[in-house]
Amino acid sequence: MQVRVLGSAAGGGFPQWNCNCRNCAGVRSGAVKATARTQSSIIVSGNGIDWALINASPDILAQIRATPALQPNRGTRDTGIAGVLLMDGQVDHSTGLYMLRERGRPLPLWCADPVYEDLTQGNPILKVLEHYCGVERHGIPLDDTPFAIDGVEGVRFSAIPLASKAAPYSPHREQSVDGDNMGLTLMAESGRRVFYAPGLGARDGRVDAMMRRADVVMVDGTFWTDDEMVALGFSKKTGRSIGHLPQSGPGGMLEWLDSLPPGTRKILIHINNTNPILDEDSPQRHVLTAHGVEVAVDGMAFEL
Ligand code: MLT
Ligand code: MN
Ligand code: ZN
Repeated sequence: MQVRVLGSAAGGGFPQWNCNCRNCAGVRSGAVKATARTQSSIIVSGNGIDWALINASPDILAQIRATPALQPNRGTRDTGIAGVLLMDGQVDHSTGLYMLRERGRPLPLWCADPVYEDLTQGNPILKVLEHYCGVERHGIPLDDTPFAIDGVEGVRFSAIPLASKAAPYSPHREQSVDGDNMGLTLMAESGRRVFYAPGLGARDGRVDAMMRRADVVMVDGTFWTDDEMVALGFSKKTGRSIGHLPQSGPGGMLEWLDSLPPGTRKILIHINNTNPILDEDSPQRHVLTAHGVEVAVDGMAFEL
């Protein structure tokens, strides 16, 4: 099983188009040692030819340009993307579907019911796509039952609901329902597992069990501190209140990752442009390194 990070930044990307924070200004000028990143998405394949796209970011066209494995090579119209799975209905994970509209056949799409509702109602991307390629939609069991994505051989998927947040245009933004967000396990034929959760708002026993059985965890790296956006004057909302557990402090992600079994590979992903861990020379980044925690970057790839 091969996994590749297409985009490792949170919504907005890094640098964000209108942001002049220390990181964004610093990566533009070169004053901060950091790498630009596109918005949140990964791909997974069992054979290196046919891939599942997990989340469709608005940067998908640039991501495909940077990823030869996804480019057409078997005919006049072709793609390495055999199917798409959406883990939530947020803008950064779904609007890339528009960019895939030139398909000749309906796009095979896996998403949970609340996400399907949001993307046919509050943000009716899937309705709009009916005027182009359309989608062939499949549901996702949320009880960790393994399922396959047609055409992606050698990978099994399973999902559990997560405490995080639905998109602002969802009727359950303030009262989450199961399926608004999910944690996804990717399982190789060898039985080795990756647990992927780019939007993870709170620690709970079930998610912990999924993380403990995984060989690699790729989890929410959005914010270092809960009040990161508030302190910078960019928002009135804390990280936790928008469904992202911060890394630092009591009960934070770093403490959680420290508690996982030795040998677990730990990777933070979906990193917001304000997060000091993007600066490779920052004390916060050094703390992660000391704890054996990696920071995903676009193009990062591994095989299990
Ligand atoms: C989130 O993860 O909270 C969203 O991506 C935010 C956004 O897309 O603006
Ligand atoms: Mn997001
Ligand atoms: Zn910024």
